[in-house]
Formats: sequence, C-alpha cells, structure tokens
Amino acid sequence: QTRHVRERALEALTEAARFFYAQLHGPQGAQALAYFQRRRLSKKTLNNFGLGYAPDSFHALLDAMTQKGFTKEELEAAGLIVRSDRGTYYDKFRNRVMFPIIDMRGDVIAFGGRVMDDSKPKYLNSPETIVFNKRRNLFAMNRAKKTKSEYFLLAEGYMDVIALHQAGFDSAVASLGTSLTEEQARLLSRHTKTVIVCYDADTAGQSAAQRAIDILKKTGIRVKILKIPGAKDPDEFIKTKGADAFRKLIERSDNDVRYRIEAAKDKYDFTEDDQRILFLREAAGIIALLDSEVEQDVYTTSTAKLAGVTPEAFRQEVKQAKIRLR
Ligand code: GTP
Ligand code: MN
Ligand code: MN
Ligand code: MN
Ligand code: MN
Repeated sequence: QTRHVRERALEALTEAARFFYAQLHGPQGAQALAYFQRRRLSKKTLNNFGLGYAPDSFHALLDAMTQKGFTKEELEAAGLIVRSDRGTYYDKFRNRVMFPIIDMRGDVIAFGGRVMDDSKPKYLNSPETIVFNKRRNLFAMNRAKKTKSEYFLLAEGYMDVIALHQAGFDSAVASLGTSLTEEQARLLSRHTKTVIVCYDADTAGQSAAQRAIDILKKTGIRVKILKIPGAKDPDEFIKTKGADAFRKLIERSDNDVRYRIEAAKDKYDFTEDDQRILFLREAAGIIALLDSEVEQDVYTTSTAKLAGVTPEAFRQEVKQAKIRLR
C-alpha cells in the first residue's frame, strides 16, 4: 500500500517535471526562458538540470495531471497541489521558474521554484512528503556523485550549483534551503574525503559556513573554506570573473583553522598595537582548541608571523589560553 503511494508520488513528480519543462519551451514560457538567459544559463544547462516553468495559473498543473489520470489525493501527497480551507485544490507553484530536485537514483522527488522578480518568498520548496526528506538529500548529488574530482563543492543555493556545473565544476551540491544536516554530511563522506565550503560572502552565509564546517568535520571529512572576494556568491562570481578565476579561489582555499584565524584577523586593525594584541589573544584561543601538538605548533608559528611577533612570545599566549580552557 505505502509502496504504491510512493510509486504514484514519484510518477506524478516525474510527470510534473515534464509539464514544467514543456511550459518553459512553450508559448507561456518566453519570460521564464528570458529569465534563465539573463542568468547566463545555456540551453544545455537547462536540459541537464531539467529546469522548467510553472505557469501563472491556479490550476494549469492540476488540469494537465488530471488528464494524465492522477487524482487530487495523489497530487497533494506529491506536494504539487494544495488544499484550501474551502476544500478546493490549487497548484502550489505558480509563475515560478522550476528546479527539480532529484535523488541519487535519478527520481524527481521535489521542486524548488523561484520568482522572476523581487517578490516574496523568493524560493518556494516542495513540502516534505512520503518521497521527499530534505534532511537526507542534496541538490545535484545525482550528478555530482559521478565526478572525477577529488573534492566536492558545497554551496548555498540552486543557482550557485548550476552555475558551478556549467563552469565545469561538476562536484558541486547544495543543501536544500536549510543548514547542512548530519545526514547530508554523512552522504558526502561516502563520496569524497574533502569538501570545499563555498557559501555566500554575507554574514548569514559565513555563519552558516561555520556550522557546516563543524558538522562536516564530525564525519571525518577534510574541510576547506573558499572565500569569495568581490561578489556575493559563487554564481555571481563566476558570472563576473569567470571559471578560471574561481579555480584559483579553489586552489587558494584555506583549511578551517586558517580560515578561523583569517576571519579573526579581519576584525582587527593591525596598525594599532592594542588591536594586534587582542587579535593574538583571540587566535591563541582558536589554536588552543586544536587536538594535536604539531598542529598547534604550525599555527602558532604562522600566526605569530602574521601579527609580527616572535613565535616564542606567542607560544606563551597559547599556553595561557590552554590553561583557561581547563
Ligand atoms: P538567487 O537570488 O536566485 O541567486 O538565489 P541564491 O541561491 O543566491 O539565494 P540566497 O543566497 O538568498 O539563498 C540560498 C538558498 O536558500 C536558495 O538557493 C534557496 O534554496 C534558499 N532560499 C532562499 N530564499 C528562500 C526563501 O525565501 N524561502 C525558502 N524556502 N528558501 C529560500
Ligand atoms: Mn536570502
Ligand atoms: Mn545567501
Ligand atoms: Mn545568488
Ligand atoms: Mn546567494
């Protein structure tokens, strides 16, 4: 019984993806197609990701799917239509460009839909359903799992992942509009040893990055963090600076200790002595947390150099920080 319900939901979602795709390329889709073109997505990328368009209607999908033999109950269970208080049903996604979310087996399990202007909410995602558990899936994992790359890239958004793949970075994935979960980290750890976190440059993105780093490290993954200068996210960076420039950012990405020290450094004005001292105190606190003596030694030396003090003096500061931790 449950199996049948699941199968019908998957069939409905696949059929809906076909419908949205056809709409994008049909008479109603001109605006949506122009939107994707403005965002520099190629025809090939649109096809690779099965992108589509949900028309500006409360029943376009409902009608098309009913024609195909799906019941309202099945469509509601698939998260495609919503029941109103009056008991009538209407399309959940209206006048949005559509991003199918595909699981590891290649089945469409949900959608993300984006408005084409500044209205809210910017993105709308499918609700959790019998086939969609957002904690356990990563956007584009079905494609990224085939990569030959040694590392995976973890971005914030659908558009980042799509822009990255289009630029040749075929190991990019994103969590689905929530912060990274332990299940997603474990899924990544089964496919790669190294994850490069490339979240948005804003403060929200940077604090989400810090949480993602901690979760990834718990699974034993080696984590690196990529900072995006002069753009708000990978999509925008690639659009303005190009794929080669992004490759250089990957090469220059820091491990998480160096990233934390660099982030601390950004808070202080090094031309002021007392600020440098405050920085060294904060950096000592970061280094004191490291498990290995060798690691502590490496960062003690490099951080001392960074702030223009002797390693010997800074080593004392780290020792003090370790005492404070006990
Ligand atoms: P663009 O504006 O299209 O470039 O998207 P973005 O990915 O840069 O968006 P942003 O950085 O604001 O958000 C990152 C990710 O968070 C998105 O890709 C969505 O998955 C999710 N998200 C953003 N806004 C919303 C929202 O209003 N509702 C929901 N549910 N998710 C959102
Ligand atoms: Mn946002
Ligand atoms: Mn963001
Ligand atoms: Mn963006
Ligand atoms: Mn963004």
